[in-house]
Amino acid sequence: MSFSPNRGPYPNSRPRRLRASEFSRRLVRENRLTSDDLILPLFVIEGRGETQQVASMPGVERMTVDLLTAKARELVKLGIPAVALFPVVDAAHKSDDARAAYAVDGLAQRAVRALKDAAPELGVITDVALDPFTSHGQDGLMNEQGYIVNDDTVEVLVQQALSHAQAGADVVAPSDMMDGRIGAIRTALEREGHVNTQIMSYAAKYASSYYGPFRDAVGSAGNLKGANKFSYQMDPANSDEALHECALDLAEGADMIMVKPGMPYLDVVRRVKDELKVPTFAYQVSGEYAMHCAAFANGWLNREAVILESLLAFKRAGADGVLTYFAEEAAKLLQD
Ligand code: PBG
Repeated sequence: MSFSPNRGPYPNSRPRRLRASEFSRRLVRENRLTSDDLILPLFVIEGRGETQQVASMPGVERMTVDLLTAKARELVKLGIPAVALFPVVDAAHKSDDARAAYAVDGLAQRAVRALKDAAPELGVITDVALDPFTSHGQDGLMNEQGYIVNDDTVEVLVQQALSHAQAGADVVAPSDMMDGRIGAIRTALEREGHVNTQIMSYAAKYASSYYGPFRDAVGSAGNLKGANKFSYQMDPANSDEALHECALDLAEGADMIMVKPGMPYLDVVRRVKDELKVPTFAYQVSGEYAMHCAAFANGWLNREAVILESLLAFKRAGADGVLTYFAEEAAKLLQD
């Protein structure tokens, strides 16, 4: 080795020293992703023994309740703590008043009962929002001007959340962004004796364009009138507002909060965790899933490595867990 006369003094600090061996990389590793961090979203359809591919989400299938229960048992074996359930209802069950949202024997309610029966140890999180059930695809009730009315919507959301709790849901997750819905749902749950039903509030939910493939998956895209959700979901430009929303929902009785979408909003996850110090979740949404898959399919990114790196990023940002369509695959990779 030749010695350059231009070389300066040797550094006192060589951060690379700790990176040189696997043993010390393991010792100083600050964050770890485990199957305990993963929540799998599941799309449920009517029927028996049937699955449907979601075109814009390769590898994601809608499935009937019977197949869902088989899947649930596999997820338990993989160490996944919970699933988030999304019903895909046909046009006949969509209406202006979204009454199918709280039907005792609705698709979501039946799916919850079947899941809790088949795999009681798997946490079941239900989506509280009206978009699968409204004829216009918005998350709430619409007035004649096309505005989504708040307080009337909250009344329907309360009934929906109660019907989920009665079916046995462990966690209800309002994703609608109406004002005051957490307090109203909490009061109703207490009144009806569901004192241990948890509320995971989508408190910082942005009016994002990353939800496109999800709207295909639940069939709310085609009929989304008004074209956007700007009057209730948050402006992507804001983050102080996210803290305000989270603080309100916690004060109203939320047990956990969610930031959504995920990767483009990791700064929000970090702020929420630092300032509020409560259980904080993030949703790696359908558009994030789709763009990863597009790059994998083209051979532009290494599938396994990038899935795990993308999920570890949530842990580093302060999230306690991640809703991700990669949950099952990631849990398998973490087992190996
Ligand atoms: C609506 C809802 C959406 C998602 C979950 N619940 C979409 C929306 O707000 O239009 C998106 C999830 C995803 O993109 O993966 N209540």
